[in-house]
Amino acid sequence: MLDDAQLTALIAAAAHVRQRAYAPYSGFAVGAAAVSSDGRVYLGCNVENASYGLSLCAERAALAAAVAGGAERVVALVLVADNAVPPTPCGACRQWMAELGADDMEVVTANLTGAITRYQAERLLPHAFQFRAKEDKEHAR
Ligand code: THU
Repeated sequence: MLDDAQLTALIAAAAHVRQRAYAPYSGFAVGAAAVSSDGRVYLGCNVENASYGLSLCAERAALAAAVAGGAERVVALVLVADNAVPPTPCGACRQWMAELGADDMEVVTANLTGAITRYQAERLLPHAFQFRAKEDKEHAR
């Protein structure tokens, strides 16, 4: 669980990287800060594409940066956008969190007016898909 000082710093970091968002199509800039189990912070912003469906959310950008940086697990993810209410992560990002997050991963979302909402990642996507290889392929059908 993030304390108030950590939360304030992470929201500031996410708000800062949000300014680097590449969002010429939606005009909706998002910043995210992922915290690894060893306390390091990885940042991401949304990166859109002329082929709209290829756009990358800030959350996944931050999670990918955490993986590239050698993070074992992500214990918290903070995101910031200029939304009337604190934005909630999209379904695709929730599945990524299920893959890379710690069991008790926390998600904190904030808007620019200072409104904050906190979630347990597990509750944002109950029954997330988990790949389990069949040991006996014969019974896979
Ligand atoms: N977006 C994010 O980066 N994170 C969210 O939680 C919601 C949506 C991005 C995707 C797209 O670039 C823009 O915001 C509008 O949907």
